[in-house]
Amino acid sequence: MLNIALPKGRLGMKVYDMLADIGYECPEILEDNRKLIFENKKNNVRYLLVKPSDVTIYVEYGAADIGVAGKDIILETMPDVYELLDLGFGKCRMCVAAPVGYREDTDRVLRVATKFPNIAKNYYMSKNREIEIIKLYGSIEIAPLTSLSDVIVDIVETGTTLKENNLEVIESILPISARLIANKASSNFRADEIGRIVSMLKNRKNEV
Ligand code: PRP
Repeated sequence: MLNIALPKGRLGMKVYDMLADIGYECPEILEDNRKLIFENKKNNVRYLLVKPSDVTIYVEYGAADIGVAGKDIILETMPDVYELLDLGFGKCRMCVAAPVGYREDTDRVLRVATKFPNIAKNYYMSKNREIEIIKLYGSIEIAPLTSLSDVIVDIVETGTTLKENNLEVIESILPISARLIANKASSNFRADEIGRIVSMLKNRKNEV
């Protein structure tokens, strides 16, 4: 079976809809259960529901042949995988944000709270700005509100989380979207199956 790593959560349902659209449905996934592995015997595929940030790990090690991961996770972790397709959804921006009215003191080291230390380091290195990274795992917005950091580097989708916490974007770093990725060995050994999925997804994308 072809193993496909799907991200759980908000991106996951969009990915599932996309695969169902090209005939790789598996309605059991939509049921209210706690199962993590689902099979579609007709198409010879097995879905693995994993944490979004773990998709690249499953694919890099070959536990999954292909998967869907955000460009943010790919840039942050630089996995040794092939990036096959920009799926054109899961769109958001990686941004620097700060409390409304924040003024940067350029004489001081900038304290940056983020889930994406590598993206943040590379960004500020390109600007020659000295920073201290404070690595967090979620609810990053609280950091500058409690003086844990000066700014945050984080994903902004609708902007609601920033707005409701009295923060605003001060710099946009890069656009993000969902990508189809493949294990390097699987790309050779299962080229036909993977190629079929890629071309169906490309056709679907052109139709949408
Ligand atoms: C992400 C991100 C922001 C929020 C942005 O967090 O870290 O907090 O979404 O979305 P918005 O612009 O549409 O409001 P996520 O929901 O992944 O939760 P987390 O804070 O636990 O990482």
